[in-house]
Amino acid sequence: MKKNELKKIIFKIFKKHKLVHKHSNICADAIINAEIVGAHSHGLSRLKMYCDRIKKNLINPKPKFKIKKYSNSILHLDANDSIGFVAADFAIKQAIKLAKRTGIGIVGVKNSGHYGLSGYYIEQAVKKNLLALCFTNAPPAIAPYGAKKSLFGTNPISFGTPSGSTAPFIFDSSMSKINRGKIRVAAKMNKKIPFDVALDKNGNITSDPKKALEGVQLPIADFRGSGLAWMVDILSGVLTGSAHSGKVKDPFDDFTGPQNVGHFFLVLKHNIFINNYLNRIKENIKNVKKLPKIKGVQEIFYPGQRKFKKYKINLNKDILISNKIKNELFELLND
Ligand SMILES: NC(=O)c1ccc[n+]([C@@H]2O[C@H](COP(=O)([O-])OP(=O)(O)OC[C@H]3O[C@@H](n4cnc5c(N)ncnc54)[C@H](O)[C@@H]3O)[C@@H](O)[C@H]2O)c1
Repeated sequence: MKKNELKKIIFKIFKKHKLVHKHSNICADAIINAEIVGAHSHGLSRLKMYCDRIKKNLINPKPKFKIKKYSNSILHLDANDSIGFVAADFAIKQAIKLAKRTGIGIVGVKNSGHYGLSGYYIEQAVKKNLLALCFTNAPPAIAPYGAKKSLFGTNPISFGTPSGSTAPFIFDSSMSKINRGKIRVAAKMNKKIPFDVALDKNGNITSDPKKALEGVQLPIADFRGSGLAWMVDILSGVLTGSAHSGKVKDPFDDFTGPQNVGHFFLVLKHNIFINNYLNRIKENIKNVKKLPKIKGVQEIFYPGQRKFKKYKINLNKDILISNKIKNELFELLND
């Protein structure tokens, strides 16, 4: 389907679900972006879930943001159970403004929801020639190291910087071996997942996505990944006043209340210590990329480089949509 045509449909669906014009636009853009970069698990496949939660009064379609300014560099946002896209878009824009004025901008967000891809917000800061970090917590998926039960979310960490070339450096990764969205998509499509990423509810390794969703996901790098997921939970949840330690609600399965996700954004000017950062980052990347490569590797990529390439290629292509998703879109437009 043509991107513009699809965007109009998504926009209409959000408007129909009582989001205001500006917020419908923000959400439609975020979903289209996920499809363009190939992150289908964070795009159209979640649209029905967002709409279901709006209908059940678990996402507030007309949130009233409460903003507290703690200093010239620090803001706190109570997002009033907003859809995550809208809260995160507001927060990153505020963090950018603060950083431009003072060198650093920090925005903590509570009472938000699932906001899609962390890197999407980081990109906004990098486009303005700034460095940025962001964290979000998520519903229980990973068992803390040594525990039998999941508690941490897949809790992505994202960091971005101008790279000195057209493709920005954007590291953006879940703390689980694969992100939960990919397991959900595999379950929907009756496909298997890789063998070493999840355990079933009895603690046995499984490649069945449905069993994985009932069991636990494994963290990246064992106790180190578990520690990083914990750090994200502290910064996004404990520090901001949002849900933490396994209390973020699963958007697909838990309808007992709003999700209460927390996010943490930190944006920096690149000249806070030195004046020649852009030359130095270029040199840094060059030194890594020129290393001798192992067999079968043609190029050492920096994080975000391949995604940018994919984005450029896909930007001029139509978006492929499965019949299942087409039917969902049709139902959401007409229900
Ligand atoms: N909102 C949420 O609750 C939530 C939760 C989990 C994940 N997510 C999002 O899902 C998206 C996907 O997460 P993921 O964990 O599947 O990421 P991923 O595994 O696709 O990529 C992780 C990182 O590795 C880099 N990378 C991949 N291949 C590389 C290569 N060959 N060389 C160098 N770098 C390479 C990527 O650029 C990326 O920065 C992210 O945008 C993340 O923010 C969101």
